[in-house]
Amino acid sequence: MRTIILAAVAAIAATSAFAEGDVTKGKKTFGKCKACHTVSTPEGEVLLKGGRTGPNLFGVIGRPVGTADFKYSKALTAMSENGVTWDEASLSAFITDPNGYLKEQGIKGKTKMTFKLKKGAEDVAAFLASLNPAPAEDAAEATEAAEEPTEAGEAAQTN
Ligand code: HEC
Repeated sequence: MRTIILAAVAAIAATSAFAEGDVTKGKKTFGKCKACHTVSTPEGEVLLKGGRTGPNLFGVIGRPVGTADFKYSKALTAMSENGVTWDEASLSAFITDPNGYLKEQGIKGKTKMTFKLKKGAEDVAAFLASLNPAPAEDAAEATEAAEEPTEAGEAAQTN
């Protein structure tokens, strides 16, 4: 229980440390991604209707690279095999210069994503993160854990 609370606090701290992205601006900029990317939940709820040239970007922040239901390039598959997970910083770097980013990661070959975003990558990353269900659930869980007068809670206090 204590671990969960600490993890949640750490997650919140990590999120606010990356405060440069502007969600509202990011939503606008995401218009450029919509030609190729949809954002829809596993339940099939379409949060943002877009094209299918690229993978679904629902929950992409915190999602392991190359794990949507999509036929990825060899380059992205290689990155996926390296066990990389997207965070706001890596996603920003990738969309600013997809092939440059892969090269930096030591990946040979080219991505199928031919688009480069000149500016506002952090905003898009922040916007995509805002569509994530995970942090809200973690927070709810943490609140629940904090309020519950359970044995684990008491044990945590005596520590
Ligand atoms: C011209 C079409 C196109 C546009 C525009 C485009 N993408 Fe992509 N994107 C792709 C394709 C295709 C892939 C799959 C790449 C591969 O397999 O190499 C991809 C992959 C990605 C991935 C990796 C996803 C995963 O599952 O690992 C992310 C993140 C991403 N795009 C974000 C964006 C964002 C954000 C924008 C807007 C700034 C954008 N893309 C604009 C076509 C596009």
